[in-house]
Amino acid sequence: MQTLHICKNHRKSIQGFYQNIEGISMKKYRHFETNAIRIQTNTTQEKEHASPMYLTSSFVFDGPEEMRATFAEETSLNTYSRFTNPNTTELIDKMCALEGTEAGYATATGMAAVFSTFAALLGTGDHILSCRSIFGSSHSVITKLLPKYKIGSTYLDLRDTASWQGKVRPSSKILFLETPTNPGIELIDLAFAGAFAKRNRLVFIVDNCFATPYLQQPIQYGADLIVHSATKYLDGQGRVMGGLILGKSSLIKEIYNFNRSAGPALSPFNAWVLSKSLETLAVRMEKHSENALKVAEWLEANQNTTWVRYPFLPSHPQYQIAKKQMRSGSGMACFGIKGGIGRGKKFLDNVKMCSLTANLGDTRTIVAHPASTTHAKLTDDERTATGIAPNLIRISVGLEHIDDITEDLELAFKASK
Ligand SMILES: Cc1ncc(COP(=O)(O)O)c(C=O)c1O
Repeated sequence: MQTLHICKNHRKSIQGFYQNIEGISMKKYRHFETNAIRIQTNTTQEKEHASPMYLTSSFVFDGPEEMRATFAEETSLNTYSRFTNPNTTELIDKMCALEGTEAGYATATGMAAVFSTFAALLGTGDHILSCRSIFGSSHSVITKLLPKYKIGSTYLDLRDTASWQGKVRPSSKILFLETPTNPGIELIDLAFAGAFAKRNRLVFIVDNCFATPYLQQPIQYGADLIVHSATKYLDGQGRVMGGLILGKSSLIKEIYNFNRSAGPALSPFNAWVLSKSLETLAVRMEKHSENALKVAEWLEANQNTTWVRYPFLPSHPQYQIAKKQMRSGSGMACFGIKGGIGRGKKFLDNVKMCSLTANLGDTRTIVAHPASTTHAKLTDDERTATGIAPNLIRISVGLEHIDDITEDLELAFKASK
């Protein structure tokens, strides 16, 4: 099977002009790690070892006929970096191999991936099914932006899957889910959701940001599309923003056509950084998971917490689902701090090494208190509906030495009493 190089081979295969696509074939190597490292642009006459950066807005043609043919999508040549660029093509090819998908498109941010997927696939009168515990900006897109185009939505109750069927309308087109969720670390049974989507002819879209393809491949459970905030673990070092949409070529074709005009393309520089980052994704995710499990176990035994949620803790209500669909638990955990919202704020005031920042999935450990920051405007009831207790602290466990992480948390616990 061939990777559909978005823009390049995508066009070729759509139009059937080329029988032999010279692009990188999917699953070129048998193993995830090798694909993450070895899929790269063809070597130039300089014989560079690592991929060069193609920092160019546009590409030149040998003559007017070649230019005409390329604009008519009769060739595989690059035209303009809003459509295609070798660095973004490399990143997409790699991510297609890692997620096991046919095609993809790379966007400037994760939210551009989420929004442009909805905008490309939905029209006035359509309806989307999702759940309230999705990432805050995705919730805003669904509840504030989509209604501008008369696109409706209904949230499904994750704890009551029996009620899902009753929420489907004739106009329902998309099922959009995220697992594990941000920041509540709730899980969704992907096999159940995939079968539900298929039965109801919904396009099943999974935001795979927290798990990454190394830990979970939604395509195996019937996902049609996978979206990513590449800003998180795919970069892994808190440097660049990026997003990806990966999945069935027929759907990516629609999304590509929309985005080619709408213009949320990823910059080639960011694509270069992200493709390099993917070379270490497997080892980073192993270590993030190892550190996070240790931190979660340590927190569970700590007298300053009231509860801890981490997918690979046996006390997680969906531990069996985690073990079924995830290789390990990733780096994200959350816990309830004894003493409620006030103590939560004080705790954040007193961490010394851990960063207070809006990002996650970094080598550096990050702590956040959603109730007093990102979700401060919600009422207690609204926060409860999203799985955010007033005393919830979210922790993105980094790659520092485990003892330095727990020592910093312990000092902050003591100082916040
Ligand atoms: C689960 C999830 N999806 C999407 C996004 C949006 O990504 P970006 O910030 O790259 O636009 C985020 C950002 O935190 C996220 O956590």
